[in-house]
Amino acid sequence: MTHQKVLVIDFGGQYNQLIARRVREHKIYCEVKSYKTPIEEIRAMNPKGIIFTGGPNSVYLDDSPRMANEIFELGVPILGICYGAQFMVYGLGGKIEKANETAVAEFGRTDCTFDTKSLLFKGLKKKSVVWMSHNDHIATLPEGFRAVCHSDKCPYGAIENPQKKFYGTQFHPEVNHTEQGFDMLGNFLYKVCGCVGDWTMEEYAQTAIREIREKVGSGKALLALSGGVDSSVACKLLAKAIGSQLTCIFVDHGLMRKNEGDEVEAAFADSGVNFVRVNAGERFLSKLKGVTEPEAKRKIIGEEFIRVFEDEAKKIGTVDYLVQGTIYPDVIESGAGDAAVIKSHHNVGGLPDYVDFKEIIEPLRMLFKDEVRALGIALGLDEKLVWRQPFPGPGLAIRIIGDITPEKIAILQDADAIFREEIAKAHLDRNINQYFAVLTNMRSVGVMGDGRTYDYTLALRGVTTSDFMTADFSRIPYDVLETVSVRIVNEVKHINRIVYDITSKPPATIEWE
Ligand code: XMP
Repeated sequence: MTHQKVLVIDFGGQYNQLIARRVREHKIYCEVKSYKTPIEEIRAMNPKGIIFTGGPNSVYLDDSPRMANEIFELGVPILGICYGAQFMVYGLGGKIEKANETAVAEFGRTDCTFDTKSLLFKGLKKKSVVWMSHNDHIATLPEGFRAVCHSDKCPYGAIENPQKKFYGTQFHPEVNHTEQGFDMLGNFLYKVCGCVGDWTMEEYAQTAIREIREKVGSGKALLALSGGVDSSVACKLLAKAIGSQLTCIFVDHGLMRKNEGDEVEAAFADSGVNFVRVNAGERFLSKLKGVTEPEAKRKIIGEEFIRVFEDEAKKIGTVDYLVQGTIYPDVIESGAGDAAVIKSHHNVGGLPDYVDFKEIIEPLRMLFKDEVRALGIALGLDEKLVWRQPFPGPGLAIRIIGDITPEKIAILQDADAIFREEIAKAHLDRNINQYFAVLTNMRSVGVMGDGRTYDYTLALRGVTTSDFMTADFSRIPYDVLETVSVRIVNEVKHINRIVYDITSKPPATIEWE
């Protein structure tokens, strides 16, 4: 690829992905690399700039992450953040003091004063709030450096050596709490590194299409299409690159939301690929008959999915490439150790060994979720699919408490569709990260017309979250909830009571099962 590149060197800090995202928001391509990456490899990548991340360690510890000093001899501008700044100071001969020797540790919002003659702060306000989070601090600067920001407690809030184009901040410019942080990063990238902002999804799409064509040649590729954002965008990209050499298999397990199977089919059936929709609803339902335990449902659906996919894949025979919709956060996380484990129960781990293929293609491997969406739009993917909220693999099976019947699926699909329709009408669909209806297994007494009813209770759930690991329940206005409630009770048979879930995660989870 021809675009400029910035490297984020990972020293183990908690905001590393955020730094990379901020750089990309400035329309500059960047990659996160471990501090263990050999200098030769870094030189070969020809970066326009390097950013050292923060990290939990103290530079003085024997086992704290360090790079060879040659990193400072590449002639590439460097911005060190927190630990990254301390490592730069330490590496270039300055002095860092430990927290227990002084009382200068700072945490949280801190007022700072900036020297706006520094390129890092050019055009910004002289005073604003930053986010500090450090124990150790810079005590003596290396030769050629000067202070360009200070707080009450910290004389070296930010430092620079403009000749060498080395900059360091004791605070975190990448987090939102640092008021001018986004612009500071922009100054580093544009004014110090001389980036031009050539990372756009249109450009990415063209390059990716060219590369996929070169790689696949006249070979065949296979993709499992779920209708989720990632697999849909991957499918659209591959369709443009290799058309009918791609077969995508869409297993409709009959547990999708209302009309969803048809929407996926409509988006891809005429896109030039071999589109196979397998209507396997009955097959899944018969396996799920009488099953009430959530994990058992998940297991059955996961296994059956593989069987159905395998049956279809066998008809195609050997393929050269299997396409997967892996995205960049998965790539970074799987390198980071513990983080991947938290998620694993949601994903089918590892490579499918039930399909014969030679190699894997992961065309979204370097993209963040918002970039995947932007790519989808650049490729002309139906906006409904681009903005589709996450939907669990087992589908409505884990939103029907207790056993699953065709009748219950139909009730839930209708009720859920009304909820979604009203949320969209109220223009809340982009604010609430996930919202859906749950068919509880409880019946209660109601009165309709002059008659007694004894019907299901439906629960509505809406959450706001950035990572789905923790979530808050959405404050959906009462009048919107009222409209939803009135409509569902009137339009959907067998529901006579509606409740709204007001628990956060933790202690609850987002799904009910
Ligand atoms: P929980 O319920 O664990 O959900 O708070 C967090 C996120 O994961 C989704 N989810 C699943 N996704 N297979 C999936 O593909 C599953 O079995 C599954 N369970 C939960 C859930 O919709 C939410 O976005």
